[in-house]
Amino acid sequence: MLTKEIPVAKGLPLIGSLVFLSADSQKHEQFFLNNYQKLGPLFKVRVLGQELIIFAGPEANMFVTQHGTRYLTSREAYLNIAQEFGETSVIVLDGAAHRRSRKVVDQFLNSTAIAQFVKPMIKTTLEYIKDWQIDQRIELFHMLPKIIFNQFTSVLLSQTSLTDDFYNDVYTCITTVLKVNFQQKSKSALRQSAYLKAKNRVIVFIQKLVEERRKTEQLRDSSDVVDFLLSVKADDGQPLTEEEIFSCVLIILSAGLDTVATTSVFLIYEILKHPEIYEQVMAEVSAVFDNRIPDLEDIKKMKVLRGAAMETLRIHPMVFMTPRYVQHPFDYQDYRVESGQIMYFALGVSHFLPELFPNPYTFDVGRYTPPRQEHKQPGAFAPFFVGSHMCAGAKLGEVQLMLTAATILYTIQPELDSPNYTIKKVLYTEKRSALTGKNNFYVRSKRKALI
Ligand code: HEM
Repeated sequence: MLTKEIPVAKGLPLIGSLVFLSADSQKHEQFFLNNYQKLGPLFKVRVLGQELIIFAGPEANMFVTQHGTRYLTSREAYLNIAQEFGETSVIVLDGAAHRRSRKVVDQFLNSTAIAQFVKPMIKTTLEYIKDWQIDQRIELFHMLPKIIFNQFTSVLLSQTSLTDDFYNDVYTCITTVLKVNFQQKSKSALRQSAYLKAKNRVIVFIQKLVEERRKTEQLRDSSDVVDFLLSVKADDGQPLTEEEIFSCVLIILSAGLDTVATTSVFLIYEILKHPEIYEQVMAEVSAVFDNRIPDLEDIKKMKVLRGAAMETLRIHPMVFMTPRYVQHPFDYQDYRVESGQIMYFALGVSHFLPELFPNPYTFDVGRYTPPRQEHKQPGAFAPFFVGSHMCAGAKLGEVQLMLTAATILYTIQPELDSPNYTIKKVLYTEKRSALTGKNNFYVRSKRKALI
């Protein structure tokens, strides 16, 4: 008999555990970690009269890997994305429709496909930073999203002359929809004219891009992801529908933007904060750049940089918690989880457990190579989540982190503008819907290398 009541985290009378809604990333993470350690992987939190159910730690990650598709769905958890941008995005699909769409997306984001993106992405980054001067102060939380956006638009979509206005439109769409989805903003934000105008411009841009490409399909001698989407057949042998093509292009513009950009900032920050790692990374970076543009094989040679990227993904996970809808009831240990509710998976809790990652708050780039390989323990490492909806861009994202940091480090040899600077992380700000820095983060350019 499953009679045990799911334990409830302690909170204040009436308001409950308000930290759940707080933007303070450290408090938020500590709250989930403490409750996991006290109550176990399954617990509830009360927030302003609502009761929310949390599944945390390696147990939760393993449950999703093994049973996610049986009991959980994504559409209801990301309802606002489905309602605002269509029902065919891989993020909101479930079951057979998800498998069909995911097969297509995996074809342009798998390890073979991404090899061709590496050199052009480095060139795009160089193009972007060519105007930075020696001794210039550069604010990375603002600069990196623009660089990453240009990497996606110029390399995957062959769009090289997009303006900052369009970049701002994409950000407005992502931020507004996610904030409404996660109740950081009320639904009325989706009816405000600034949002509606931005959304309309993004939709029209994608429609025009696809329409024009159809006309010139036969004339082009090189191909990009749009060409691929126009020619690919799904597993039923049918070409993609207009809506499916639209969703794939939208994903390229949105899913990896904030995640890669912000994690790249944290990666550069951690390297600059650890002089012994900085020295080793600079040696690796200098060896691969050596008067030429590196390729994917070169990027893979940089083992210390890879360790630093993995450690950044562990200590600064962009997604600490993600929702799923419980479609069918299930039993876990002595508890029953009822269907018809949103459940929150605190995927980042495992990253801070000393039994999985000894001295979890120490930035230790040696964790990921043999014999340690701490990330390979079941359910331990989940910055891209796990299961059928695990990030489709994980491989590209990892490579982008490395190539972006490497290009910036090699070209301008940045140093911290103020040596004692510490990033204060927040889960959202007025302009952002995900993890970011509370304050600006300036580095100073020390040289200008030519490549
Ligand atoms: C550091 C970089 C990145 C991080 C940390 C990250 C993280 C994540 C996470 C945690 C999810 C699961 C969300 C959920 O299901 O609730 C996800 C999904 C996804 N990500 Fe990423 N991501 C990154 C880069 C990228 C890139 C570069 C792309 C593609 C250009 C991408 C495309 C996607 C897609 C398409 C999904 C949905 C997959 C599905 O539902 O089947 N991501 N990402």
